[in-house]
Amino acid sequence: MAKLKVHFETFGCQMNVLDSETAAERLAANGFELAESAALADVIIFNTCSVREHAEERVYSRIGALKTLKQRKPELIIGVMGCMAQKDGALVFRRAPHVDIVCGPKQESSLAALIAEAQAGRRILALDNGDRIRVRTKPPKDVAEVGQTPQAAAAFERTGSTRPLPHRAYAAIMLGCDNFCSYCIVPYVRGPEESRPAEEIAEEVQRLAADGVKEIILLGQNVNSYAGGLPALLRRIHDTAGLDRIRFVTSHPKDVSDELLRAMAELPKVCEHLHAPAQSGSTAVLKRMNRRYTREHYLDMLDRARRIVPDIEIASDFIVGFPGETEEDFRQTIDLVRKADFGQCYIFKYSPRTGSKAVEFADDVPDEIKKRRNNELLAVQEEISAGRNREKHGKVLEVLVDGSSKNDPGKLAGRSRGNDIVVFDGPQSLIGSITPVHITDSTPLTLFGKEA
Ligand code: 5AD
Ligand code: SF4
Repeated sequence: MAKLKVHFETFGCQMNVLDSETAAERLAANGFELAESAALADVIIFNTCSVREHAEERVYSRIGALKTLKQRKPELIIGVMGCMAQKDGALVFRRAPHVDIVCGPKQESSLAALIAEAQAGRRILALDNGDRIRVRTKPPKDVAEVGQTPQAAAAFERTGSTRPLPHRAYAAIMLGCDNFCSYCIVPYVRGPEESRPAEEIAEEVQRLAADGVKEIILLGQNVNSYAGGLPALLRRIHDTAGLDRIRFVTSHPKDVSDELLRAMAELPKVCEHLHAPAQSGSTAVLKRMNRRYTREHYLDMLDRARRIVPDIEIASDFIVGFPGETEEDFRQTIDLVRKADFGQCYIFKYSPRTGSKAVEFADDVPDEIKKRRNNELLAVQEEISAGRNREKHGKVLEVLVDGSSKNDPGKLAGRSRGNDIVVFDGPQSLIGSITPVHITDSTPLTLFGKEA
């Protein structure tokens, strides 16, 4: 029998990217082939995100677009996995009756079995257990609810060797989140925090490095609450042969300790790069967000980081238009961004998530104001990024070369230790290696240069 071809469409964060890679690798081990596009696939899996409504709408519209394909090709299996699937559950079948499988983020390990069941003609609902979501839609009659599979219960058997770049890989060090920031759906769809044993992570990093990985990115919703301590984990994997760089995302600002910063400063392979989302510059808003730090704590954390780790590049996320955010609160955010001098900021308009605490507050900032604040903050950060990037002209940065530049295939593109995107002139033979690049020009988002 010909091998079934599977295609993944991934939405959302790096954890989802890793989950799709892991799922694809497991399917390949179970006799599947990867299809290059949805049109060539026998099985299409959407790995979904539920962090904002916009992300969900995009998935539903992509799924909707496959309706005629499914009519023409009834044997096509369409699966929806990940955070939105876990959150919406049976509602996915009601909104998109041509879907065959709905499964939670931990079920990536059981996809082969779920696909086999769907091929037998059943629609399958396989949600992770123990989730904290309160709203549930009853499944339509012909849907079989299979619940959490044993593989999903042991969610931490992970591998990542179908990674998109041979020289960079993600490694999940923890799953879930216990922080319950009031706007956030993640603790409900990804469940409680669970750390993976350091031994296992160290072995995986060794295996990846032996397989050509130069940069490892440790992943978790809040890597700072890693059970064995993140600084200890960094020290433990640091001397892995063949590995040149270590990063970790995401850090909760309340948990960025001096001990962690010292480990970053002392360990040469740990990149000077910290993603510690502030979310707001107003203490009153932070309180309603349940972030458990004040504006002053955050600014103090930045001072400590810059004192202990010279040249550290700090990135942040912000939510504008959170319930009750006044113009004055927003000014505080602008002011914090100006003071903080971030390398990069990701800015989002608040999107109420059913099941999260903040839906109890009125979503009282009109959309035009959210948009205006979003654009204003973006403009401020652009100006800062432009200035910071200009200061790098004339410097030589170490770049891990990812491949040809997307916008200019004649050039190479890669990442600096501080996570800047660097586009430069050099031979293709540099792809996959770390090379010094002389920076000559920039835009707010990109540095340009030539091989030094
Ligand atoms: N609305 C808007 N942005 C959100 N984020 C998380 N939840 C929401 C929400 N309900 C943002 C935060 C987080 C990033 C991944 O997404 O800034 O850091
Ligand atoms: Fe969501 Fe807060 Fe956990 Fe991040 S730390 S996943 S924002 S609850």
